[in-house]
Amino acid sequence: MAILTVHRRFQRLALVVAVFLVLYVYILLTQTGLIIPQHAEWRNWKYRPSSFDWGNRTQAHPVDESTMVHLPIGTPHQLPHIQHEFTRAELSEAHTKIQRTRRNVVRNVAKRSWRAYRDHAWGRDEVAPQKLIGKDTFAGWGATLVDSLDTLWIMDLKEDFRAAVHHVATIDWNNATSEHCSLFETNIRYLGGLLSAYDLSQERVLLDKAIELGDMLYAGFDTPNHMPANNFHFGPAKEGKLVAGVKESSAAAGTLSLEFTRLSQLTGDSKYYHAIDGVKKALERTQDSTNLPGMWPIFVDLQNSFFTPGTAFSLGASSDSAYEYLSKMHALLGGLDPTYEKLHTKAMATASKHMLFRPMLPDDLSPATTETTTTTSATPPDILFSGTVHSNGDIIDLHPEVQHLGCFAGGMFALGGRLFDQEEHVKIGEQLARGCAWAYEAFPTAVMPELSEVMACEKREEEEEEEKEEGDADTTEEQKEEEEEGHHHHHLAPPCAWNETRWAEKVGERAAQLPRPFSKVRNPQYLLRPEAIESLFVLYRITGKADLLDVAWRMFESVRKATRTKFAHSAISSVQTTGYTVKIDAMESFWIAETLKYFYLIFSEPELISLDEYVFNTEAHPFKLPKQGGGGTRLDR
Ligand SMILES: *[C@@H]1O[C@H](CO)[C@@H](O)[C@H](O)[C@H]1NC(C)=O
Ligand SMILES: *[C@@H]1O[C@H](CO)[C@@H](O)[C@H](O)[C@H]1NC(C)=O
Ligand SMILES: *[C@@H]1O[C@H](CO)[C@@H](O)[C@H](O)[C@H]1NC(C)=O
Repeated sequence: MAILTVHRRFQRLALVVAVFLVLYVYILLTQTGLIIPQHAEWRNWKYRPSSFDWGNRTQAHPVDESTMVHLPIGTPHQLPHIQHEFTRAELSEAHTKIQRTRRNVVRNVAKRSWRAYRDHAWGRDEVAPQKLIGKDTFAGWGATLVDSLDTLWIMDLKEDFRAAVHHVATIDWNNATSEHCSLFETNIRYLGGLLSAYDLSQERVLLDKAIELGDMLYAGFDTPNHMPANNFHFGPAKEGKLVAGVKESSAAAGTLSLEFTRLSQLTGDSKYYHAIDGVKKALERTQDSTNLPGMWPIFVDLQNSFFTPGTAFSLGASSDSAYEYLSKMHALLGGLDPTYEKLHTKAMATASKHMLFRPMLPDDLSPATTETTTTTSATPPDILFSGTVHSNGDIIDLHPEVQHLGCFAGGMFALGGRLFDQEEHVKIGEQLARGCAWAYEAFPTAVMPELSEVMACEKREEEEEEEKEEGDADTTEEQKEEEEEGHHHHHLAPPCAWNETRWAEKVGERAAQLPRPFSKVRNPQYLLRPEAIESLFVLYRITGKADLLDVAWRMFESVRKATRTKFAHSAISSVQTTGYTVKIDAMESFWIAETLKYFYLIFSEPELISLDEYVFNTEAHPFKLPKQGGGGTRLDR
């Protein structure tokens, strides 16, 4: 009898415990976003197709089926590990309360920025963060809304994500606020945003809208020579009357590849991939015969068979992501097209030889604004910048110009260094990333300007002379090879001594307003740009160096302070202001899409959007990489 009672009691207890366990697990899963409660309204969006079906349009310059290039067939290669192998100790560092607090502060900034947009500019391209009105800057399809989707998902703002998807389901690409759009911008912000949000959430309607848009952008390649027309006029595009530009930015040509490839992978339709493969072939054909062999001029003539007479070269505005996408395409294709590695390796060898430089650093190294400098010792920071090169083929001239847009280069060098086993380039990447972070701290707001010039060490040319002399004496095959591969260590030479006279002569009367070693601020604005934190994020994930978290946090604190408006954040007119900054009432969609996402991710556990599982497009939208050793690159179908 007694035994039976105990047994029954135990059964009851077990039942209660089981119920609690199930509840607990359910709550845990919903809290962490692993499962989503199927509320009636969660998925009640209704897909409304656009009022014009671009996929149905007859091509004016059809692609011959027999020449169609398909996605490479085969098992994706096992790529080298990109991310640092975080030890248990390093992981617990990454999970500390400090990082969690930091990431929560970032999330709150994203929340208030998103809500300002949601409440005052829903469906429009941007919210003006002071006037709190909507404005349309990218054809009026809701640039901020589409660009923010994956950030909302990653930050676990799922209700906001749901509402945004609801709106996306009804976007009509045939209803624009302008007669034309930029192929480049539409691709990286809208198409990239949709594909990434689909990769993360698997919401089918996002892919449906991506296909509609992809079909529209595909019409940009319906030109006589199948080079893309960046200036996408809707009317002529429908009639197949677009032509590629005679002076087009190389970025506009080279920054469609990741998105078009991902769309081909997701749909199994090769036409998008075929289109961007034509650009790859042109890049390959012209790479060695430009005025700076290995790189392409900032502007190219797409209309006349990718003609490259230009003499200006840089990793900054108008060419940046053309370089960024070379190594990333290698990753997205699982290494199945060897051309991208070749393009990347040659371009980076040229850039590292001719474009990178050490700044001449003042003896007093403490940056203007912070008391909390990492080093009070005399160790000079080990930093590099990337400048602008003018070359006519004979005379190669480096302008020590520093663009905020160029700050992504640190991440690019480091990622390529890992992918192609060039440890030297990981090091260069770190020097570049730390260079931009250092430049932030040099200004009164602790934020870096859009465009400036800095005193460069002159070491470079002397060293090249030396190398040349040595080389002329007896050039071995090995040395030749090294030269071709760009193994030049000039930028690793010790930094040069500060020369106050040289600086003073250069800046003249501007000396009072300029922090050493800057010699000019050509555009003092800060536009909420992401490139500096992007590189810090990539370098942290690749090297695991914990001090980068503190560097990133100082950067975040100064950006937050300098740009904060009552309800959101705004671009500012000058980073040289002491005290209250002047706002220019603009919050571009990349603030939530990129800047805040990278800040959030660097303070998150390193497994969140791992660089071994995702590749970021140039608007910070992560695309899923093909499973290595898995079955081919045609995914999800
Ligand atoms: C356009 O698409 C519709 C529906 O998908 C189809 O019925 C029609 O035949 C297509 N028209 C052309 C010209 O392909
Ligand atoms: C076009 O879009 C605007 C918003 O940008 C909207 O107010 C209008 O109703 C749309 N027109 C059609 C025909 O859908
Ligand atoms: C510093 O720069 C000035 C002007 O360019 C030059 O004349 C001088 O020789 C330099 N001093 C040193 C120590 O290099």
